[in-house]
Amino acid sequence: AGDDHIAPPEEYEDIVSTLPTAMTFQAKLLYQYQGGWVIYHRIRGLLSFQQRFTPRSGDVLLASPPKCGTTWLKALSFATMARAAYPPNAAEHPLLRLNPHDCVPFVDDLFSAGHHDQLEALPSPRLMNTHMQHAQLPPSVADNPDCKIVYVCREPKDMLVSMWHFVQNVRPVTFSDLFEVACEGKTPDGPFWDHILGYWSASRSSPERVMFLQYEEMMRDPVGVVRELARFLGLPFSAAEEAAGLPASIAKLCSMEVLKGLDANKIGTSGVLAKYPHKSYFRKGVVGDWINHMTPETAVRFDAIVHDKIRGSGLSF
Ligand code: A3P
Repeated sequence: AGDDHIAPPEEYEDIVSTLPTAMTFQAKLLYQYQGGWVIYHRIRGLLSFQQRFTPRSGDVLLASPPKCGTTWLKALSFATMARAAYPPNAAEHPLLRLNPHDCVPFVDDLFSAGHHDQLEALPSPRLMNTHMQHAQLPPSVADNPDCKIVYVCREPKDMLVSMWHFVQNVRPVTFSDLFEVACEGKTPDGPFWDHILGYWSASRSSPERVMFLQYEEMMRDPVGVVRELARFLGLPFSAAEEAAGLPASIAKLCSMEVLKGLDANKIGTSGVLAKYPHKSYFRKGVVGDWINHMTPETAVRFDAIVHDKIRGSGLSF
């Protein structure tokens, strides 16, 4: 698992060789590009995406920093968009036999592996996801009135704890090693505060094109979020669907309780480049787990960094 990826093509060497670099907690190389830290095996994919991606009317891009609820958002969006073909109660629902990452392609990896043709083969409307920062999206996506973006982020201390558990699948890293680089913003797709602020500001200026969600809000009211999501995607639930309880059925199908228990999410791996066990995407799924991993002093230090970065944005955690 983890490092089992194919080598990317040596394309874009003229650009990549000029970029500043840093090391992550995993002793992996990061490239700094357009303000974001991009992990070495995805930098060429990002450049290729910027150059080659052809948006289609109706495209939906899910965006998130890693470990903020990507898997959950993929499941909810897929189930919402596909509900005509696959009602959430259907015994044959794809989410009952496939991991959510196998239902929604991760463009960063597809482009990095040179498999972007797979996106062309998808029927419209396409549903995809990315960890790229908003500033790294090409204008053909970021400014496209026909392309919608759904963003999810999470209380940063919980994100960090989730990331720490996740990287243990690849190699043991101490929490304090991760903590120190995170304070400098040097996590993959970081700095996470710029990631969040980029999409936050896009959602404030174009709320019809960028929907901004927080994991905690999804936990508080998953059914309400499903309704909002459907409305945002231009697929509001009809009175008949509401009467049949579809929003609640979708939330239930995509709940931790249901998904974690499925064989599809207990066995196997996902990913075109780095392959992670399906089960590593379903850990605890609670708000406030940071308390079990951070001392009050560490939490105060981290909160101070976050508050300083997001001050004045109107955003809070
Ligand atoms: P924890 O590690 O805190 O449990 P991502 O999908 O972006 O990698 O984020 C993973 C986090 O989302 C993990 O958090 C995981 O347990 C949680 N998660 C995955 N599926 C979920 C679901 N259906 N409902 C709630 N949380 C979920």
